Amino acid sequence: MGLKVPFVTGYLTEHFGDDAFPTLEGYRAKGGYEAARKALGSMTPDEVIELMKTAGLQGRGGAGFVTGLKWSFMPKKGDKPRYIACNADESEPGSFKDRILLERGAHQMLEGILIGAWAMQAEKTFIYVRGEYAHPAACVQRAIDECYAAGILGANCLGTGFRHDVVLTRGAGAYICGEETGLLESLEGKKGQPRKKPPFPAEYGAFGMPTTVNNVETFSHVPHIVAKGADWFRGFGTEKSPGTTIFGVSGHVARPGLFELPLGTRLDEIVFQHAGGVPNGRKVKGVIPGGMSMPILPAGQLDVAMANEFLRERKTMLGTGGIMVMDDTTCMVRASCVITYFFRDESCGQCTQCREGTGWLHKLVTRIERGAGSIEDIEILADVTSKMEGQTICAFADAAAWPVQGMLRHFREDFELHVEHKKCPFPESFEL
Ligand SMILES: Cc1cc2nc3c(=O)[nH]c(=O)nc-3n(C[C@H](O)[C@H](O)[C@H](O)COP(=O)(O)O)c2cc1C
Ligand code: SF4
Repeated sequence: MGLKVPFVTGYLTEHFGDDAFPTLEGYRAKGGYEAARKALGSMTPDEVIELMKTAGLQGRGGAGFVTGLKWSFMPKKGDKPRYIACNADESEPGSFKDRILLERGAHQMLEGILIGAWAMQAEKTFIYVRGEYAHPAACVQRAIDECYAAGILGANCLGTGFRHDVVLTRGAGAYICGEETGLLESLEGKKGQPRKKPPFPAEYGAFGMPTTVNNVETFSHVPHIVAKGADWFRGFGTEKSPGTTIFGVSGHVARPGLFELPLGTRLDEIVFQHAGGVPNGRKVKGVIPGGMSMPILPAGQLDVAMANEFLRERKTMLGTGGIMVMDDTTCMVRASCVITYFFRDESCGQCTQCREGTGWLHKLVTRIERGAGSIEDIEILADVTSKMEGQTICAFADAAAWPVQGMLRHFREDFELHVEHKKCPFPESFEL
């Protein structure tokens, strides 16, 4: 039922093989909640925020925004209650790292939330869990219940007099509810349609109150930073992208699974060494480095450090660290059919460029895949993606356009061969 413990563990996951660790007793046996005791007992909220800024932790939900900076945006004055939303929607295809953190490390995440709540003087956290994650949601609820029973959450957190409540809510299976303002709408019981910004959630968030949204993994790093310090944290990863992350590797590899490694680990090391390379004597054709919305890299460009500052040079990004490997039997037009089908289905429909654009992308790649496309269709495909970027209420439309742009940048020949042969020239590729 649960996900397999990562093949390579680090500070986030080192105890995940211990069956007691998900329980409060097991977590406390490894020093759990000592960091929260330190923060709430001996640090001011501003000191915690400064520590997070110095550590340089970047959000692990996809956009990579600096966490300490985001926390500093929370208004300090005013009589409105301040809220936190923990984003556990994890719907990006190819991403499954938050699931293990919910199943095996719920207390670690809750401790990070409690520290964040102290830093931002927030009175309540909503944990928004993806609808399909029934088991992870049950694991988190059990951990919340244990915290209330032990006085870690509630009216007098850890005996410090600070009040903080945590409520778990479940989504209903829509990708767009992972976008932070779509999440807030859904949380309020409305259709999960992203909001226009400004106002940003720090000003007008859940139920109109100032709210900070952070990802599950982001919160999970926090207790370690408080316990061991910013310098320790900066000892992992690159100068601009410190810390570890949990890479999820799927597709054509011998050992699909999770690997906690420092940011900046090379993509070819992850694919060939940790995940065991491509089975059946085949070669890599392309790798999506960060979940399905991130542009693909061809086999010749896997010598890249997995951190945004390096990936951007190759016109892609870290995203959620979900690495999807495709071998040399793969038809990239078919892969594009799968990708565009997903985005067409998941668009919330508010913006014309997104609603119509995702439909056009899917129609065009399907036509090319069937052998009924023309060279002009390939040009139109590229043109439609350029009209979707940076035009819409949320970044979903960009996320739908980028993977197609990546396919055209590196595998245009696959598209042209379909036009030339009037059929798919990759008979060994996966079936649609
Ligand atoms: C279409 C779309 C889907 C998203 N899905 C998720 C998600 O499932 N989980 C997540 O943490 N962030 C997701 N995000 C990013 C969130 O909007 C937000 O940036 C993030 O939760 C902030 O947390 P962080 O700063 O800790 O990374 C998504 C963004 C977009 C545009
Ligand atoms: S970009 Fe797409 S998903 Fe985002 S608000 Fe517009 S229509 Fe909805």
